[in-house]
Amino acid sequence: MAEKEFDFSEVEKRLGVSRRTFLKFCTGVAASLGLPTSAAMAMAKAVADPKRRPPVIWLHGQECTGPTEALLRSEQPSLAHLILDLISLDYHQTLDAGAGHQVEAVKKKSMRENAGKYLLVIEGAIPVKDKGIYCKIAGETMLDLTREAAEHAAAIVAYGSCSSWGGVQSATPNPTGAQGAPQVLKGKPVVTIPGCPPNPANFVGTVLFFVTYGKLPPLDEKMRPQWAYGRLIHENCYRRPHFDAGRFANEFGDEGHRKGYCLYKLGCKGPETYNNCPSLEYNNIGGGVWPVGVGHPCFGCSEGGVGFTKPLFSLADLKTLTPPNTFPKIQDRQKTGGLSAGAAALAGAAVGVAVGASAVTVKKLGDKNSSGSGDQQD
Ligand code: SF4
Ligand code: F3S
Repeated sequence: MAEKEFDFSEVEKRLGVSRRTFLKFCTGVAASLGLPTSAAMAMAKAVADPKRRPPVIWLHGQECTGPTEALLRSEQPSLAHLILDLISLDYHQTLDAGAGHQVEAVKKKSMRENAGKYLLVIEGAIPVKDKGIYCKIAGETMLDLTREAAEHAAAIVAYGSCSSWGGVQSATPNPTGAQGAPQVLKGKPVVTIPGCPPNPANFVGTVLFFVTYGKLPPLDEKMRPQWAYGRLIHENCYRRPHFDAGRFANEFGDEGHRKGYCLYKLGCKGPETYNNCPSLEYNNIGGGVWPVGVGHPCFGCSEGGVGFTKPLFSLADLKTLTPPNTFPKIQDRQKTGGLSAGAAALAGAAVGVAVGASAVTVKKLGDKNSSGSGDQQD
């Protein structure tokens, strides 16, 4: 017997978005997770079921509140709506209307009654020096509050770079001994969603998966969801054809910069930073709103050991040099003396356009009249 058609009217009312927009969002998340379209319907049903909303305890440590701000400013569909309906936000120091003892009592009650069931979200770094006295909330250190809340959490999510690995607070000389949640909660699995700010869609997608399937999505070795952090920015960047062709901006405002050339020589850390910024962009509106899209080199905000650690203008380590789609055929490579596209790009980065515009580049230019694909040349 065919399954009864799902009634979305309640979801439409609660979220203030049309059925079409809502399903489009769920389909997009499912596709990003590498799941079939049937998963989108499973996610939609999970959101529609108020009984499946997990209670959430949300702690703030040393930070600027950027992750929450990013979440609240997203639109179409309003992720704020979605997340607030997807979960039961029992405690959030920034969004709670109440304050003081009353709110703290609500938190303790929720943690007691929902032991083993609640989701703990940590935003901000946790200072550990001098027993954690450099960050206190309601008279208790963030260090103690984190450990206490983690004790009976069903899952722990570190949202933002500060809670994922310490962020800017942990930059040398790190006077407060700031650490990320995974370092503080050694031995407990902590999912990390780094970024400064992190993309709210990465958070919502991860929570949506958790609510739908009761488990976390596949993670990488830094405990980041693979669906969001599986690729280097450099792999998906639309300035990549310029990198491969050896066309670089050498200074802010120079001709190469104005023409939308690759920002590698300005210190772009896209080649060693894993994130989905080029494909997702920010503010839910597309249109190139992400650092590289607006002409600023990626500084590796989501990569521990790169962001806030490596100087902005130092050159990125090139982890992978995957050949571009237009990798020439074997006979063409023989004509060029065997110089690969990757080698051409490296040469271009090292000694400039003259060498970068190698035979391989010439082949590409000949094919496409130097326009790249979807780049920002004027
Ligand atoms: Fe894009 Fe940066 Fe890679 Fe250049 S170095 S292609 S700007 S990610
Ligand atoms: Fe951050 Fe780089 Fe993306 S600076 S927002 S990871 S482009």
